[in-house]
Amino acid sequence: MTSEEVFFKWMPEYSVNIKTIDDQHLELVKILNRLFIAVSKREGDKAIAGILDALTSYTKTHFALEERLMREAKYKDIVPHMEEHRKLIAQLDELCNKHLLEDKPIYFEMLSFLKTWLKEHIQGVDTKYSAALQQSGFSVARWEKEASAEFALMSESKRWWEVWKAA
Ligand SMILES: [Fe+2]
Repeated sequence: MTSEEVFFKWMPEYSVNIKTIDDQHLELVKILNRLFIAVSKREGDKAIAGILDALTSYTKTHFALEERLMREAKYKDIVPHMEEHRKLIAQLDELCNKHLLEDKPIYFEMLSFLKTWLKEHIQGVDTKYSAALQQSGFSVARWEKEASAEFALMSESKRWWEVWKAA
């Protein structure tokens, strides 16, 4: 990917100060960038459907882990946060179904919607829970150790994603 093709550039201020969560957010940014390239280069329905699939399943796994973290840390605002996740998943599913079933093209508006959503979600509600967890003295490091099996599975699942990366 050349520099002028970067659609969503990761900035240090997107960090929530939890390494595993930052890594997963960065992965989502990479998938969006890959989708942008596929759409720009008109790579065809099969390639785009595959990337959309990667985006949806990675997002679901990431949300599930984030929710587990918030639950285990007894974070007080978990309910509205989960609601934001649920809505986005519903929108992503709808987007995928439209594309796959009705064979509609993926529009650039969808890409900018996803970019804005992710940026605002990370800098808004994700930053809030990470700050609250750190203030409450919850050991994120210990949690990361306990959830290491799930993290390993997530990097495993990145293998099939490598196929799509080579733009
Ligand atoms: Fe979140």
